[in-house]
Amino acid sequence: MRHIRGKKALRVVSFLRSRFKVGHILKSIDLDQFQKYQRRYDDADPRPHGYSKYLDIRPWMADKLMHALYLGLDKSRPMKILDIGTGTGYFPYVCKYFGHEVVALDLDVVPMYNDLCEFLEIDRRTWRVEKYQKLPDLGLRFDLVTAFMIKFNQHYSKEQWATAEWRFMLEDLRTNQLNPNGRIFLGFNANLDGSFYDDELRRYFESIGARIWHNEVDIGGPKQSVLFDVCDRLLGVEGPNSHPNPY
Ligand SMILES: C[S@@+](CC[C@H](N)C(=O)[O-])C[C@H]1O[C@@H](n2cnc3c(N)ncnc32)[C@H](O)[C@@H]1O
Repeated sequence: MRHIRGKKALRVVSFLRSRFKVGHILKSIDLDQFQKYQRRYDDADPRPHGYSKYLDIRPWMADKLMHALYLGLDKSRPMKILDIGTGTGYFPYVCKYFGHEVVALDLDVVPMYNDLCEFLEIDRRTWRVEKYQKLPDLGLRFDLVTAFMIKFNQHYSKEQWATAEWRFMLEDLRTNQLNPNGRIFLGFNANLDGSFYDDELRRYFESIGARIWHNEVDIGGPKQSVLFDVCDRLLGVEGPNSHPNPY
């Protein structure tokens, strides 16, 4: 319970800081050029649910920045990060802004995602994540693997991944993609019934030491009291978030 309160506090701090800091990130982007994509794809997949919503770059970049701040990426040593199902590439862009090396994976079927990743100079590789299929050898090992607003688990269908599929994926990540002290951070979309995971999957995540909050599952994250972590952030001190912990 205490860690959930701490997590909430850390999230609030990250949220507020992201709203102040997003302007700095946007200044590093040629927004005149970006307007070209806003015009081209404005009606491609209408708001509020379609992917054209990501063209509203300020709130979406701020959302990704919030995650990066929450993960301590603004203060950490340069890390190697893998972002799965990256979409527009905003999260990798924020990571690169803070000096990290990022590889992103996604399908290549949505022209807007292809164009924006190219525009933001994201090292995005085309790959379809499928159940019980290992990820490809990407030529390096990662300190952090992220996936936000996950869709590859088919959350929108009756074929949604259950514990066995997630166990396969996480073991593949740990064995073949992560560095020894690596961290995995997952942000789930709601399933058809409105939940993010069933009891069995939740128990599995807990059994491997994950910290779970709402739709987020943090595996190998910092073990220090989150309260201390919030203080570290406020004081600008480098804390354990800066160096991912072992499982
Ligand atoms: C809801 S978007 C989220 C994008 C990004 N992670 C974010 O938070 O803004 C889901 C992304 O997952 C990608 N995706 C869906 N199914 C996938 C699969 N089987 N393998 C790889 N990527 C997939 C989509 O192309 C899309 O970019």
